[in-house]
Amino acid sequence: MAARVNNGYVTRASLDKQPHEVAAMFDDVAAKYDRTNDVLSLGQARAWRRAVAEAVDAKPGELVLDLGAGTGTSSLPFEEAGARVVPCDFSVGMLTEGKQRHPELALTAGDATKLPFADGTFDAVTISFALRNVQDTDAALREMRRVAKPGGKLVICEFSTPTWTPLRTVYTEYLMRALPPVATAVSSNPDAYVYLAESIRAWPDQPGLAAKLQEAGWSKVAWRNLTGGIVALHRGFNT
Ligand SMILES: C[S@@+](CC[C@H](N)C(=O)[O-])C[C@H]1O[C@@H](n2cnc3c(N)ncnc32)[C@H](O)[C@@H]1O
Repeated sequence: MAARVNNGYVTRASLDKQPHEVAAMFDDVAAKYDRTNDVLSLGQARAWRRAVAEAVDAKPGELVLDLGAGTGTSSLPFEEAGARVVPCDFSVGMLTEGKQRHPELALTAGDATKLPFADGTFDAVTISFALRNVQDTDAALREMRRVAKPGGKLVICEFSTPTWTPLRTVYTEYLMRALPPVATAVSSNPDAYVYLAESIRAWPDQPGLAAKLQEAGWSKVAWRNLTGGIVALHRGFNT
């Protein structure tokens, strides 16, 4: 599917995920992003964020990188746990919205494949609903490992593949049929949610993503399904 351009503005990235198109698409949805998330996830987004926070298990004083942090909402649980969190994203629109909503957060501009941090900086690196949007997944996984301390933890929260066939069927119907009209009602850019559905369908399943983590050098790789596998948490260690 080609990128969609309206009045010179990119409204929907194509599945080859050109970075400028992805960033422009998120600039466009930034203002209504958090509210749209709550609606389209049928209220599940908050439970998924709690599960990420439990998996990262950040301790007071630890330094956590929340990559692809968008408006910073995914970073809040780490700050609440007493950790120091660096939310990082390459969409100026999302960062600007985040600065207004959460002025206390140290929102930082950066690309997942060329992070502006020294080797071995973070106790934990986490990324929620963003890795799927990065053009070079393998480069991002290697880059996250570079900036993690020796022994540091990685937690990825991403849409995945429901393991129970009837749920998979209903969910696919939801993505392809119900999500676009709901997005039209609540989002500033419904086209972006067509990309969402397409990119979820094209994303590797749980074992496929686990293999990528291992190839990038992460060890003790494991995953846990949330909501029947609609979302999966993958973890690894930099050992
Ligand atoms: C769906 S949002 C997720 C935001 C937040 N983590 C959350 O859970 O609400 C995906 C974010 O990833 C960012 N992103 C995509 N590709 C990126 C890249 N290569 N480097 C940095 N950020 C990227 C987008 O700009 C967007 O803000």
